[in-house]
Amino acid sequence: MAGTALPTDDELAAAGLRLAVEEGASGGVARITLARPERHNAMTDRTWTALAHVGHALPASVRIVVIDGEGPSFSSGIDTAMFAPGNEDSALNRFIRDPAGRAELDAAIAGYQEGFLWLRRPDIVSVAAVHGHAIGAGFQLALACDLRILSDDADLCMKEPALGLVPDLTGTKPLVDIVGVHRALELCLTTRTVGAEEARELRLAELVVPRDQLAGAVDDLVTALLETPRDAAAATKELLLGAPGRTLAEQAAAERAAQVERFAAWAAAAGRG
Ligand code: ACO
Repeated sequence: MAGTALPTDDELAAAGLRLAVEEGASGGVARITLARPERHNAMTDRTWTALAHVGHALPASVRIVVIDGEGPSFSSGIDTAMFAPGNEDSALNRFIRDPAGRAELDAAIAGYQEGFLWLRRPDIVSVAAVHGHAIGAGFQLALACDLRILSDDADLCMKEPALGLVPDLTGTKPLVDIVGVHRALELCLTTRTVGAEEARELRLAELVVPRDQLAGAVDDLVTALLETPRDAAAATKELLLGAPGRTLAEQAAAERAAQVERFAAWAAAAGRG
């Protein structure tokens, strides 16, 4: 979908989203707002496919993506209407009616996951600004981001197992990476709610601030992120994201390779490439 236009405001609104892209001297900032406040920003399959569309179509100038929620919560997770009997728009319901369509359901979920996976792309830094409830898919969306700033009223809950499901929107990997497998097991299998202070202790939040300071704290972070040169930031993010899967020797080699590329870029910029 590279090179395609961003979704229109009407398409975004139908998916429960708003998007604003601000261009600046140091790069662009995309602000994605979950915008169904009357439903605590419950998300549908349209939300996830629209998020994927945004990820594919964002201008190359964009370096930072901020995701926040309008109204009382970041997101109450999947719109429970997706399970409502008779909702034929829902791939989940179609599968329950015709369980032979496993491949169709797998493909549908893969499409939903696309809405989350792009947030880890090296060329952007994604920031979740979380207040109120972040439940199920909402918690997973926050986990899909590189950084999380929470307000002190934030409550995180991986609710899926309580509904007979597993978390399948790419949240299990970052959750385990951050809190470890044993704590992840405890959080997911009790489906208990983690408040902001505990989230900070578990490193699920980089920062916790009073509710009225959330927007300002996010702006400060965005300003600081934009001060780091773009290509160095992208190469460093790629290096860091790859570190858990490498041995020390492999990581050292990856550092060297990335640094050689940095110096080569400097040489090219000086006309010696
Ligand atoms: N899907 C659809 N509608 C929702 C959802 C949701 N996930 N969450 C809230 N709403 C609706 C409520 O039904 C209610 O609608 P109504 O005004 O027509 O009655 C409205 O939003 C306001 O919600 P309340 O429950 O009245 O608000 P309250 O502050 O008491 O509670 C809370 C908010 C905690 C978010 C509660 O609504 C809730 O638990 N929602 C369900 C959360 C859930 O189970 N999500 C699925 C997780 S699993 C996954 O995401 C894959």
